[in-house]
Amino acid sequence: MALSSKTSAEELRAEEKKLNSEYEKLKSCNLSLDMSRGKPAAAQLDLSNGILNMNFPSYINCEGNDVRNYGILTGIKECRQLFADLLGIKADNIIIGGNSSLNLIYDAIARYYMFGKLGSTPWSKLEKVKVLCPVPGYDRHFSICEEFGFEMINIPMNSEGPDMDMVERLVKDDESIKAIICVPLYSNPSGVCYSDEVVERLVSMKAAAEDFTIIWDNAYGVHHVYKERKLADIFVLAEKYGTEDRVLYFFSTSKITFPGSGVALIASGDKAIAEIKKRFGIMTIGYNKINQLATYSFFKSPEGMHEHMRKLGKMLKEKFDVVLTKLDEEFGDSDFLSWEKPDGGYFISVDTLPGCAKETVRLAKECGLILTAAGCAYPYGADPNDSNIRIAPSYPTVEELKKAMEIFCVSVKLASVRMLLNNK
Ligand SMILES: Cc1ncc(COP(=O)(O)O)c(C=O)c1O
Repeated sequence: MALSSKTSAEELRAEEKKLNSEYEKLKSCNLSLDMSRGKPAAAQLDLSNGILNMNFPSYINCEGNDVRNYGILTGIKECRQLFADLLGIKADNIIIGGNSSLNLIYDAIARYYMFGKLGSTPWSKLEKVKVLCPVPGYDRHFSICEEFGFEMINIPMNSEGPDMDMVERLVKDDESIKAIICVPLYSNPSGVCYSDEVVERLVSMKAAAEDFTIIWDNAYGVHHVYKERKLADIFVLAEKYGTEDRVLYFFSTSKITFPGSGVALIASGDKAIAEIKKRFGIMTIGYNKINQLATYSFFKSPEGMHEHMRKLGKMLKEKFDVVLTKLDEEFGDSDFLSWEKPDGGYFISVDTLPGCAKETVRLAKECGLILTAAGCAYPYGADPNDSNIRIAPSYPTVEELKKAMEIFCVSVKLASVRMLLNNK
């Protein structure tokens, strides 16, 4: 019989005994497993080793520039064109930076904080700056906002993206709301893909703040696993409403080739990107163009990248299957855990019964499995229900993952049973 919140106290007590002994047995294995961060496995990284062994026919790029030398602030043309074709952005509106999109996001926010956006008051000079944060979301986005002292407002996510009625209502009257942070495809962690309607509402809505900015972090834009979901082209839609400068678009090859050694980009409308270019010109003489040429030469075309992502997607699918099958087996007919099967991305987001996430993570840790801290997918680490846990299945091997899921499921059950018994 499946356990649930309706199970009688007597049965729960009997189950707790069984679970305790299962848990202690797993604990005695002295395992050391990690499902805390969305890191690619070594086998995934191996798929990109060609980048390291690139025999360039020439170091001169398509415009006749030597990529080993200084210059080319916005990135080499062929690499910008590759991303332009891949993502549907005009090449002239793209700047390729260093390896990290998170770094570009931090810097973009820091520039608006210090200098303002297109003539508006710098955010540092304002009494209050608020940022809309669809939840659950990416913890590192929230850390950036916290560091700058922004007030974060939780926006619930539904199956189509953030609750747009709430977003529109807040943004239209409150001038201190300066941004919304979005991971629009296979969002981290819930895997939600923004519908065309949501994308159009984001670019068309009335914003009280003239410098209102959409941080469009398309980190998983080509990370299909079960299905190929398509994201509406935000710049094409923004053009209809003349709001292209509202969008700051970010993308990187961190989860395509090598985290920490890929290439990242920022894109925006004509005016906003011109301003960013000007400030980049003070900050640097140019980024790593050898890496840009290697990345371009490795993929050559969007199809080259999609082909690569199909191989990566297969590897991820094997891991996602392990997690989802186990969750179905253990909780398919129980209300102890709920989740949505993502079509792609890197994560599976689950919800325990209210008040059980922290305890589940603690129990798992004591049993040798590190999970992302409970609550991390919420601003200030504060999950109002203490129920959300992010599962990152990419890094462990399939065998390790199977063991990790055993620990995870026993920990969920034990935390739930104990909570229910305490409350009875
Ligand atoms: C949504 C999201 N944005 C950004 C990043 C980091 O990207 P980068 O390595 O390009 O800084 C991650 C990494 O997990 C992520 O999940």
